[in-house]
Amino acid sequence: MKHLLKLLDLSGEEIIDILNLADQLKYETKHGIEHPHLKGKALGMIFEKSSTRTRVSFEVGINQLGGYAVVLSSEGSQIGRGEPVQDTARVLSRYVDGIMIRTFSQGEVEDLAKHGSVPVINGLTDFCHPCQVLADLMTIREFKGSLEGLKLCFIGDGNNMMNSLIVGGLKVGMAVSVACPEGYRPPKEILEFASQHNGFQLTDSPAEAAQDADVVITDVWTSMGQEEERAKREAAFKGYCIDEALMAKAKPDAMVQHCLPAHRGEEIGESVFEGNAKYIFEEAENRLHAQKAVMVKTMG
Ligand code: CP
Ligand code: NVA
Repeated sequence: MKHLLKLLDLSGEEIIDILNLADQLKYETKHGIEHPHLKGKALGMIFEKSSTRTRVSFEVGINQLGGYAVVLSSEGSQIGRGEPVQDTARVLSRYVDGIMIRTFSQGEVEDLAKHGSVPVINGLTDFCHPCQVLADLMTIREFKGSLEGLKLCFIGDGNNMMNSLIVGGLKVGMAVSVACPEGYRPPKEILEFASQHNGFQLTDSPAEAAQDADVVITDVWTSMGQEEERAKREAAFKGYCIDEALMAKAKPDAMVQHCLPAHRGEEIGESVFEGNAKYIFEEAENRLHAQKAVMVKTMG
């Protein structure tokens, strides 16, 4: 695998391969078995948006693989002053062995890969969040034993998380149902992909989407960069909260995932969040293991 730009670029088999390696690396981490697959290698990390989990899990992860991280933010670098991405790509490629980038436009990530000569890993764009969804699939498989045939339901905004969950879920053989209000649906590219698969459902009814689901997932209503739309979004997503009444529609043993940060009382109820904390924080931990697998597959 050369890059991880979006899950649309991977086959279902490639996704499962990453998850298998992630499981193995998690086992080794838990048992104190060293795995220096990227000894001496440098990972450049570019952050044009805030981060807690992605920042820490990538930096700890590259260290556990025997490498090290160099972190750039837009404000502290020439990126924030408008240096073209094609120049940043060619410069960084001469210093580091791989680049993780979190930014707004998917095009910028694709351009970084096109103009640079080292692997590029997408750490979130407005379009997708592939690393997060690999960790989600890893977590679901860990608790449910398998992925194929399970029903994954996402309630909320047609955003980066919904996009990647639709693609990742369908590629590994899950049924995927999503509920979002009119005007907040996933982009055409994602709906076109989904329409080629059986087992995809798009509705504006959270109850319909959650019916008999094995996994119920949500994310914030206002993503990074959309802060000015907060009030409008709060109104549009009224009724899209994962609360106890909605969870009663899902299977009795359904698990909840949330990529975090969560807004209790908005997209998720307090008792549903705390009742599913063991799944949600395992999901957060699995970012570390899944991303180590991605780094080994791309930079190894
Ligand atoms: N879920 C996630 O990507 O978290 P951060 O924004 O903290 O990196
Ligand atoms: N959809 C959210 C995810 C944060 C991890 C955002 O883009 O802000």
